[in-house]
Amino acid sequence: MKISVIGCGYLGVVHATCMTELGHDVVGIDVDPEKIALLAAGTPPFYEPHLPQMLSRALATGRLTFSTDISVVVGSNVHFVAVGTPQMVGSDAVDLRFVNGAVASLLPHLRAGDLVVGKSTVPVGTAQGLSRIIQQKGSGATLAWNPEFLREGFAVKDTLAPDRLVYGLAEGDDTGEAILDEVYARAIAIGTPKVVTNFATAELVKVAANAFLATKISFINAMAEVAEATGADVTQLADAIGHDVRIGRRFLNAGLGFGGGCLPKDIRGFMARAKELGVDQALTFLGEVDQINNRRRERMVDLAREIVGGSLEGKRIAVLGLAFKPDSDDVRDSPALDVALRLVESGAAVIATDPQAVATARRRYPDMTYVTTPDEAAKDADAVLLLTEWQEYRALDPLAFGEIVGTKAILDGRNCLDPGAWRAAGWTYRALGRP
Ligand code: UGA
Repeated sequence: MKISVIGCGYLGVVHATCMTELGHDVVGIDVDPEKIALLAAGTPPFYEPHLPQMLSRALATGRLTFSTDISVVVGSNVHFVAVGTPQMVGSDAVDLRFVNGAVASLLPHLRAGDLVVGKSTVPVGTAQGLSRIIQQKGSGATLAWNPEFLREGFAVKDTLAPDRLVYGLAEGDDTGEAILDEVYARAIAIGTPKVVTNFATAELVKVAANAFLATKISFINAMAEVAEATGADVTQLADAIGHDVRIGRRFLNAGLGFGGGCLPKDIRGFMARAKELGVDQALTFLGEVDQINNRRRERMVDLAREIVGGSLEGKRIAVLGLAFKPDSDDVRDSPALDVALRLVESGAAVIATDPQAVATARRRYPDMTYVTTPDEAAKDADAVLLLTEWQEYRALDPLAFGEIVGTKAILDGRNCLDPGAWRAAGWTYRALGRP
C-alpha cells in the first residue's frame, strides 16, 4: 500500500520504518528540516534499540522517503497522523495544536477513498470533530482512529507484533476496516486480537490503558510507603501478590515511579477531559496516582540527605541514570533527572551519567556536571544514587565499585540491586520500600 506518515517524532519514525519493513511504500513528513535530513541519511533523531538498522534497511529498499513538503502525500491512500500531543503549558489539558495542524495541512491533498488514520493520543471526542472537518471538505476521504501502544525501548517489536489492534471507525464506515486490515496484514495473519469499535472507545482505550498502568505503579509505590513505616519489603510483597494471575507481577516494580512523555501527561489530560465532560469524580483517584508518584521523588532526596549525614550541602553525589527508563535517551518528565536537579537545588555536587541520555539531559540542563561512565561519576563520591535501571548498572560489581567511591553508600532507586551482595561488600544499602 502507499502510506504517508505525518509527524516524524518517536511514534512517526518507528511507524514509517516498520510500515516499510512490512512491504508498504511510505513517505514520512515533518515540518523540521533538520530532522528530515537526519532521517533521510539513516539516522534516527533519538535512541531506540534496533531502529537504526531497520531504518537503513528501509531506506535501501527505495520504498521509504522523507520530506518537509506535505503535497508529497498525494498518491498515498492511507495517511497516518502521528504528531505529538503534549501537555498544555500551565494546564493539565492536552495541546491539540499539532493534530489539528496536521489534519488541516492534509485536507487540500486528500482524494476520494483516502483514509486518514489518527495514531496520536487524544482526548475523547477529538476524532469525531476531525471526522466532521474532513467530511465538510467533501474530498470523499474518511477518518479512522487507531491508537498506538508501543513502549520506548521495544518500539519496533511493539509495532511489528502488537498485542492488539484497535480500530475506531465512524458510524456506517464500511471500508476503513478492510483498509486497515491490509496495512496490518502480517499482524492479522499471526492472530493479533482486533477490536473494531467507535471513535470514542478507541480514543478511550489508549488513555485507559495508560491510566491503568500508572495506577498499578502508584499502587505498589503506595505499598512501599507503608512498607517503609513497618519494616516490610515491598519487592517481596510484589512477588507474593504478583503470583495471583488476576494481579500479575508486571508493572509492580516499586521505586522512583513513572515518567516519560506518555503516562504523566496522559493521566493529567484524561482528568482534564473528564472535568470538561462533567465526570471528574470518576477520575479523582488519578490525582492521587500522580501525587504518590511525585512523593517518591521527594522521598529519594530525603533518603539521600539521610545517608550523607543530614545535609546535602557540598556533598558529592554520583547519579547513575537520567533517562525515564532504561533503553531510552528520553528525559521527558524523567524521575531520575528530576531527583538529580532536586539534589543540585539542595546544594549537592551532582556528577551524573547515563549510557544514552547525557546529551538529551544536557540540552535541557547544561549546567549540571555530566560524565560518561559510572566509575567517573562515583570517584570519591559521598553517596551513589541508582536512578535508572540500565543493565550495566545492575551488573556493577560492589567490590570493585567500592574501591572508587569516597564512602560506600548506595541508594537503589529502582530496587534492581541485590542488597545482600552490596552489604556483604561493606556498603550501606538503602532502597525505597525496603528495610
Ligand atoms: C507507555 C505504555 O507502557 C505504552 O503501552 C504506551 O504505548 C506508551 O506509554 C505511550 O502512550 O505511547 P513508555 O512511556 O514507553 O510506554 O514507558 P513504560 O514502559 O510504560 O514505563 C513508564 C514509566 O513507568 C517509566 O518511568 C518506568 O520506569 C516506570 N515503571 C514501569 C515503574 O516505575 N515500575 C514498573 O513496574 C514499570
